[in-house]
Amino acid sequence: MTIKPLILLPDPVLRQRSKPVERVDDALRGFADDMLETMYDAPGIGLAAIQVGEPLRMLVIDVSKEEEEKKPQVFINPRIVKNSDERSVYEEGCLSIPDYYAEVERPSSITVEYLDRDGSEQTLQADGLAATCLQHEIDHLDGVLFIDHISKLKRDMVIKKFTKLAKQRAAVRL
Ligand code: NI
Repeated sequence: MTIKPLILLPDPVLRQRSKPVERVDDALRGFADDMLETMYDAPGIGLAAIQVGEPLRMLVIDVSKEEEEKKPQVFINPRIVKNSDERSVYEEGCLSIPDYYAEVERPSSITVEYLDRDGSEQTLQADGLAATCLQHEIDHLDGVLFIDHISKLKRDMVIKKFTKLAKQRAAVRL
């Protein structure tokens, strides 16, 4: 397994729309394992393929609690087929926007259809943290970031800050 470098804001790659996975094979499962290793290493609770530069509709999550056993889950070509009217607010962060957190309101529970790591069709009803995490990651597949759900003023400030940081990183590499 390999830890992959994370793509950071404001890299335009993050704004790409990812393409459906056409075949679930060993190469894809290996890539899913790399994604999980990258997520655990960060550490984070969710990661979309585009965050390591692969524009594929695929994500991994693990929303188990610290004291619980690890529960890695792979979602391939996930689609939200039902949203609850009830909404809840979580403080979200993103591995592509390190050390920035903001409250985001989203539907409290969702139903997702997807393929698992064996390529079998699955339906999952998720609520709580899992629902928020899945919505955040599925947004990534359409080039949407959690900062798109906060005020424009806050969003512009974050983008400005990360643009400056990216310039500093580029300068250091000269
Ligand atoms: Ni994210």
